[in-house]
Amino acid sequence: MSPEPSDDAQLEWPLTLGTADATRRLGRRLGEMLRAGDLVVLTGGLGAGKTTLAQGLGEGLRVRGPLTSPTFVLARVHPSLVGGPPLVHVDAYRLGGALELDDLDLDEALDESVTVVEWGHDVAERLSDDRLEVVLRSDPTWPAADPARADDAERTASIAAVGPRWTTAAARAALDSVVGACRAAG
Ligand SMILES: Nc1ncnc2c1ncn2[C@@H]1O[C@H](COP(=O)(O)OP(=O)(O)OP(=O)(O)O)[C@@H](O)[C@H]1O
Ligand SMILES: [Mg+2]
Repeated sequence: MSPEPSDDAQLEWPLTLGTADATRRLGRRLGEMLRAGDLVVLTGGLGAGKTTLAQGLGEGLRVRGPLTSPTFVLARVHPSLVGGPPLVHVDAYRLGGALELDDLDLDEALDESVTVVEWGHDVAERLSDDRLEVVLRSDPTWPAADPARADDAERTASIAAVGPRWTTAAARAALDSVVGACRAAG
């Protein structure tokens, strides 16, 4: 699975995430700006921080937790606590591919929910022309290099905004400010 964002990505924001909290905070800020119908595709190797970021999304959207790695279920629905859209959390790792993703019948839920797909690269793009793609990368030597710091190791993230939903001036400005706040917080 390639860790690169899609070729049709229109805008990209790179940033550094020094701690797991920073990753969660990025998720929270993104979650605050998401609305029903939005799709977020998370890419990155094992332990890169996809679920950590998804937890932040859940906090920002104010849905019922806890958001955990959906090990035995492929998709889990987290209802809103504040009358907003639910968060549908999908783990595509164990999916055989796009056809099995279709079997989950997410299409109907997609319009009314915010959908986040871990391991979604090359699989989830077909769900929507509009999406945020977040690629997380960790130091390849982690955690063997320094297990004592395993809970807080630097990640790099790249956010790509794809499709008309994200190319409006308002959406760009909102993403600029999310990324700017995360950079300032370190
Ligand atoms: N900067 C960081 N961002 C995110 N997680 C970090 C960071 N530094 C350390 N961690 C730790 O790395 C682990 C990331 O786990 P997480 O479950 O979020 O990854 P994942 O990409 O969802 O893994 P999987 O591939 O198993 O689904 C957590 O234990 C977290 O505390
Ligand atoms: Mg995970």
